Amino acid sequence: MATKFLLTFAICRLIVTVGLTVDPMELLRQGVDGQLSLDPSDVKTASLDFGRLSRAEPLAVLHPASAEDIAGLVKAAYESTHGFTVSARGHGHSINGQAQTTHGVVIQMSGSRGKRLVSGKPALPLVYEKEKYIDVWGGELWIDVLRSTLKYGLAPKSWTDYLYLSVGGTLSNAGISGQAFNHGPQISNVHELDVVTGKGELLTCSEEQNTELFRAVLGGLGQFGIITRARISLEPAPQRVRWIRVLYSNFSSFTKDQEYLISLHEQPASKKFDYVEGFVIVDEGLINNWRSSFFSPRNPVKISSLNADGGVLYCLEITKNYDESTADSVDQEVDALLKKLDFLPASVFTTDLLYVDFLDRVHKAELKLRSKGLWDVPHPWLNLFVPKSRISDFDKGVFKGILGNKTSGPILIYPMNNNK
Ligand SMILES: Cc1cc2nc3c(=O)[nH]c(=O)nc-3n(C[C@H](O)[C@H](O)[C@H](O)COP(=O)(O)OP(=O)(O)OC[C@H]3O[C@@H](n4cnc5c(N)ncnc54)[C@H](O)[C@@H]3O)c2cc1C
Ligand SMILES: *[C@@H]1O[C@H](CO)[C@@H](O)[C@H](O)[C@H]1NC(C)=O
Ligand SMILES: *[C@@H]1O[C@H](CO)[C@@H](O)[C@H](O)[C@H]1NC(C)=O
Repeated sequence: MATKFLLTFAICRLIVTVGLTVDPMELLRQGVDGQLSLDPSDVKTASLDFGRLSRAEPLAVLHPASAEDIAGLVKAAYESTHGFTVSARGHGHSINGQAQTTHGVVIQMSGSRGKRLVSGKPALPLVYEKEKYIDVWGGELWIDVLRSTLKYGLAPKSWTDYLYLSVGGTLSNAGISGQAFNHGPQISNVHELDVVTGKGELLTCSEEQNTELFRAVLGGLGQFGIITRARISLEPAPQRVRWIRVLYSNFSSFTKDQEYLISLHEQPASKKFDYVEGFVIVDEGLINNWRSSFFSPRNPVKISSLNADGGVLYCLEITKNYDESTADSVDQEVDALLKKLDFLPASVFTTDLLYVDFLDRVHKAELKLRSKGLWDVPHPWLNLFVPKSRISDFDKGVFKGILGNKTSGPILIYPMNNNK
């Protein structure tokens, strides 16, 4: 089975774009409209990101009113004799300054005012109920995409763990979460994009039209164009979620079970889970960490009583979606799947919630951390793909080795099917 593991954890830094100096007032004279802001608070916001590791001040910030505003700015940059840099910023949740630029202009995609229109086209968001897709502005946050589609009983299929990220921002990466084994990452669930290219042209692209551009922009780290509209695939929204966590002390049993669960991706919905993730617990305190606030009672498990191998435990996290019509069978389906797994007996934690509350789960933790002043702090995070053949070395060397027993950040680990 072709498998790789996605890891999210602490470490890392750097990368800043450099360009030539240009007077932003010159831009205003060149016809980019009055949404170009020199306001110090706009400039400060655009110079920071969630990582709080690098900082770069742009000369100005554009709040686009339309895709054409963006095309106008990029065209001005392309044709300008001195040149200046342009960087799209979604919701600024990068770690290493990926959306920052010095000596240039940051285009603030999320929260941008205005009509989000291309002249002659209908306003976004626009849900196509029969075709099951939605057209959204590139700066739209995923939480707002969800709210728009739920009105029609529909929802996107593939997610990130956290929804206060922009569509353009996650499609420039991949958009990976526990649904990816089944539906692929978010970039595999896009029908079509409108993109402003490096020359300032506004083009529509898809697998059929401007194919190279489409493939380059998806996962293109914002380097191949600016996404102004995305057409995202939808499915009927489930009503509720059964959310389960089970613990392992044996790493090879843990990965074997995770790989088994993602190998079921072609099975009918009743014979597989809808979400497969997992995390590492290197410190007992972390069993109640910021990702755990939905599970009570607090800390019913003592790690020492579980005979943890090298002090490390692994938590498999799975969910089953259901609605009224399948409520009767959900317990049976879950039990049949759990029977195939080799977790520590008596370590099953279950909770049940609305689909939207499951998808938006990290926001609850965000509010908690914000109230303690622990959200706007440096986040030296790192994501890695590790081949299946080396994942047990990674466990020995990193989780049981260099991390020690006192790491307090989240460490996620789950496998992906290469063919998705
Ligand atoms: C709490 C938290 C949880 C996360 N969980 C996950 C997760 O589960 N799965 C996952 O895959 N990722 C996750 N991420 C990472 C996240 O997907 C990326 O950091 C993403 O780029 C952030 O989106 P943003 O809108 O804040 O983008 P920004 O940081 O604003 O921009 C990111 C990159 O995209 C470019 N960009 C932004 N908008 C556009 C656009 N419209 N067109 C072209 N390029 C653009 C920028 O130039 C930059 O290079 C998480 C991040 C955080 C902070
Ligand atoms: C861990 O589980 C594997 C099977 O998945 C088994 O071969 C191995 O002996 C177990 N290790 C320990 C320390 O129990
Ligand atoms: C972590 O704690 C366990 C149990 O106390 C111990 O065996 C192990 O050596 C510790 N690991 C590190 C890296 O300190």
